[in-house]
Amino acid sequence: MKVDGKPTRTIWVEPDGWSVGVIDQTLLPHRFATLRLQTLDDAAHAILTMIVRGAPLIGAAAAYGVALAMRADPSDENLERACAALLATRPTAINLKWALDEMLAALRNRPRGERLAAAYARAAEICDEDAAINQAIGRHGLPLIEAIAARKNSAPVQVLTHCNAGWLATVDWGTATAPIYMAHDKGVQLHVFADETRPRNQGASLTAWELGKHGVPHTVIPDNTGGHLMQHGMVDLVIVGTDRVTANGDVCNKIGTYLKALAAHDNNVPFYVALPSPTIDFTLADGVAEIPIEQRAADEVATMTGKTAAGRIETVRIIPDGSAVANYGFDVTPSRLVTGLITERGILKATREGLAAAFPERAVAAKAPRAAE
Ligand code: MRU
Repeated sequence: MKVDGKPTRTIWVEPDGWSVGVIDQTLLPHRFATLRLQTLDDAAHAILTMIVRGAPLIGAAAAYGVALAMRADPSDENLERACAALLATRPTAINLKWALDEMLAALRNRPRGERLAAAYARAAEICDEDAAINQAIGRHGLPLIEAIAARKNSAPVQVLTHCNAGWLATVDWGTATAPIYMAHDKGVQLHVFADETRPRNQGASLTAWELGKHGVPHTVIPDNTGGHLMQHGMVDLVIVGTDRVTANGDVCNKIGTYLKALAAHDNNVPFYVALPSPTIDFTLADGVAEIPIEQRAADEVATMTGKTAAGRIETVRIIPDGSAVANYGFDVTPSRLVTGLITERGILKATREGLAAAFPERAVAAKAPRAAE
């Protein structure tokens, strides 16, 4: 996607040929700045502190983290250590483990002297594959928006999304946003309601920023607004991203997604989930019981950061001193509430049969023991 007219991805190899450039997403929307990751620790820190975030981008950053580790020391011990350190950064998005498994498969049986080049090559492929997958998600999701547009004559299609499953969360295009960008580029009239997504406000800070940069009409809404809009016929379609989908189609995504799915179900609003296949975890069945839910620091809930009228970035406390805080990062939407899964291989039913028929090679491979365990 473009930033001020310049084609930009969220992660790249710098002109020096080895350090890894990323956008510092903690500074958006007030400042667009990039950072150079130079070591394994830099990569792990970037994932942990959410300089980079979003399931597919976490995977891509981890892949380059392994490449940076191989630059320092291509031994077996360092490969295992790097994968373990990266895996420990965030627990919920399965793309992290998927990417590390891919890197291990590409490197483990190679002589040490070949590992560095092979690591950069596989990391670059993972990035290119992600961009291509998301474009395919866009192509498959586009007809959903076009069909609604056809019914509405020239009135804009109203799409609601939660958190940021946009290009900032991936290498390019985004997952939930890919059909939106494609529809917009084709001249389909649409408008996006972006949930603010407390506590880190990825919807308000990131989704609104990238939609604005691309010229997509949008409105930021407090997280509690979606149900009201749906009751009043103001949402035609919900599209969200996901951090992990189980074999039977349960969907884990940013905290608050489940409540939107319930509201959509109660109001007959179609609720779609856009995902690249690396987000499917065929080893799990029951999302509520089995998916590990990240819990983050209390400060994320107890404070808010923003720009003052004078243009300074400041953090202020918004709860009483001494109040306890709970900060669950994700929740699980049961498959029964999901209208369909928009994947690179088409729109699937959120069922075991639907997923296994579309990705038989992944479903079968999941029965064998996995590399990074
Ligand atoms: O905590 P984050 O910002 O990494 O959470 C991001 C989300 O929940 C996204 O919806 C999900 O990763 C899908 S990104 C295409």
